[in-house]
Amino acid sequence: DRVPTFRIATIPGDGVGREVVDAGRAVLDEAARLTGGAFALDWQELPWGSAYYGETGRMMPEDGLEVLKGFDAVYFGAVGWPGVPDHVSLWGLRLAICQGFDQWANVRPVRFHPGVTSPLRKADDTELDWVVVRENSEGEYAGLGGRNLSARTGGEVAVQSSLFTEVGCERIMRFAFDLARTRTTKKVTSVTKSNAQQYGMVLWDDVFRRVAGDYPDVETESVLVDAMAARFVLSPENLSVVVASNLNADILSDLGSALAGSLGLAASANLNPERRYPSMFEPVHGSAPDIAGTGVANPIGAILSGALMLDHLGQPAAAEAVRTAVDAVTASGTLPRDLGGTATTADVTAATVAALGETL
Ligand code: NAI
Ligand code: MG
Repeated sequence: DRVPTFRIATIPGDGVGREVVDAGRAVLDEAARLTGGAFALDWQELPWGSAYYGETGRMMPEDGLEVLKGFDAVYFGAVGWPGVPDHVSLWGLRLAICQGFDQWANVRPVRFHPGVTSPLRKADDTELDWVVVRENSEGEYAGLGGRNLSARTGGEVAVQSSLFTEVGCERIMRFAFDLARTRTTKKVTSVTKSNAQQYGMVLWDDVFRRVAGDYPDVETESVLVDAMAARFVLSPENLSVVVASNLNADILSDLGSALAGSLGLAASANLNPERRYPSMFEPVHGSAPDIAGTGVANPIGAILSGALMLDHLGQPAAAEAVRTAVDAVTASGTLPRDLGGTATTADVTAATVAALGETL
């Protein structure tokens, strides 16, 4: 029998992206080795990002998506660096891949880790385990609008429109309900703002109600986004799957990861559920220019994104082993600086690799 080999394109990108992607690769390679040939990972690194932009005037080559199409998945670090406007770096690489590959579902788990003190004292002894499902193809990030640059100084006007389609709402909601069915708490909370956004968000609510009808076994609720921000802080324990539009989920998932202890912990998957195109796995955080190159970046978000990639590649045992290993590392007190410890990126990575040996 031939060992199934997955071809993974890595795009470390900018800043700490380099450091955390290397950490994730080390852990995933060890997971593959320890499964005794259940699968193998064949990595190819692509040097795209802000430095590439400096040399070529583009964040990735013109045929970048064609190059990526041949891979089973994309493992991504972060983009964004002083000197390149953030909207140029984001739209030129990360959003170009998400939109070009129709990665319409963005999955962002939020979990408490043993040994990590949450800024939410009351939550420390509570099981906290939820998933933000982010609509990743339209909504507020549809890129629709324009600026009236010809207007006289001081009189300029900009329009940034949101796009909500019935198809786009329905597919992300069905995805959320299907995910809820696989979890202990079978519940979907829809995040809305239909009191103020009377077109797009009212369509969102209508579709949610209709789709919910097909899942009578799943509990549902609908919460306004501002109230939801308070709810994350005050009673996070009664959430399971949270489905929200592109912007709302972007904000709420950063809040969720901060509640779990740090942005450096948060993992994410940009999925093309039909598998017509490769999906992309990346930590939620950005390039962290303030700590880049100092060796203290927390690699856990990137490592747990790697676990989501293993899930997607049909390797749930290896994925679960990586999550268990991370929990063993945090429980043992090997914590990076953003979690109040003194461990370096390399220390956390080495400890995770060692802990994998105990679990696999
Ligand atoms: P950021 O996530 O890079 O940093 C925010 C704060 O969190 C900083 O204090 C940073 O030191 C800390 N932090 C982030 N990741 C960490 C890690 N792994 N370990 C320890 N601490 C960590 O967000 P910021 O500063 O708003 O943006 C910096 C650049 O990153 C910008 O150019 C922005 O556009 C880009 N960005 C890119 C994203 C992506 O590629 N998906 C996502 C968010 C921002
Ligand atoms: Mg974000």
